[in-house]
Amino acid sequence: MTIPNTIEWVGELDGYARLIDQTLLPLELRFLDVHDVETMWEAIKVLRVRGAPAIGIAAAMGMVLAVRNVNTEDFETFRAAVERAAQYLNTARPTAVNLFWATRRMQQLVESLRELPVSQIKQRMLEEAITILEEDAAMCRAIGEHGAQLIRDGDSWLTHCNAGALATARWGTATAAFYVAREQGKRIHVYADETRPLLQGARLTAWELQQAGVPVTLITDNMAATVMAQGRVQGVIVGADRVTANGDFANKIGTLGVAILAKEFGIPFYVAVPSSSIDLSMPSGEHIPIEERKPEEVTEGFGRRTAPLGVNVYNPAFDVTPHRYVTAFITERGLVCPPFDVNLRRMFGA
Ligand code: MRU
Repeated sequence: MTIPNTIEWVGELDGYARLIDQTLLPLELRFLDVHDVETMWEAIKVLRVRGAPAIGIAAAMGMVLAVRNVNTEDFETFRAAVERAAQYLNTARPTAVNLFWATRRMQQLVESLRELPVSQIKQRMLEEAITILEEDAAMCRAIGEHGAQLIRDGDSWLTHCNAGALATARWGTATAAFYVAREQGKRIHVYADETRPLLQGARLTAWELQQAGVPVTLITDNMAATVMAQGRVQGVIVGADRVTANGDFANKIGTLGVAILAKEFGIPFYVAVPSSSIDLSMPSGEHIPIEERKPEEVTEGFGRRTAPLGVNVYNPAFDVTPHRYVTAFITERGLVCPPFDVNLRRMFGA
């Protein structure tokens, strides 16, 4: 793949995380070197690194940055620092479960290593963060292999937001299916929804598909109905920030509308998701915390005011799509079909 790594660790325990600053794309490809947890928190908060799996990896690396200089050999003191780091990082964004999944995984690791010297625990934390990254790349590749089987030569598929390489360690979730289909020699074309208000579709999905040589056509969000009505789309794949036990899922605002349209037009609607985004502890979608972001993203996105001063704004960053709109989930272990409450638990319950 021609896209640079979204996030990686450079050097040893005294090294740093390097990530693509996605707020600057597509105009500039610039890397941000992150040496402390506060900078990582800010990077997650303002979407320099974004997309559920990438947020999880960033949080795991953030945990390392937070505690590597804690100067103690007392396990309880160290554990308290780890706990504080997790609580802090968990406040960066509320919706993607990967953030909480990653910080909890790091905490559980520390707990399991309590007999080791603190210096060794720190080293193992770094190894775990890198493992999370490598596992994510492998899961995305597997999602791509399963997803590509659904795509026929000559198809056009639609996606919303960026569930791409930029949102993961590599390959993406939704885009992985497109990349693998291309490798298989299928001629595929993608419609990318622009994705108001932060334009992840226009800025990121269109950019990365172009970089990878996948034919892509950008549409504004309100054109999706028309391209479907005109018979231009054979399938939809989106990502997810959190899938609940009954198959409801949160994804970027606008996903619900796309799902309803797909059902109306008889177009299959797939959700590509690694197990790290599946939250079986949550029974259904109405429990998912939905991030609300600042009004300026709507009224003066990218520096130009497009609404009157003082206007009221509602800016939820995600919506919840009920499971009845989902044809199947594409996971690293294969397709999960309805009934989702039974089949998600069967596949991921352990
Ligand atoms: O606000 P963002 O850009 O982090 O939102 C990202 C999405 O909604 C993605 O579709 C989702 O995280 C899945 S990424 C594989």
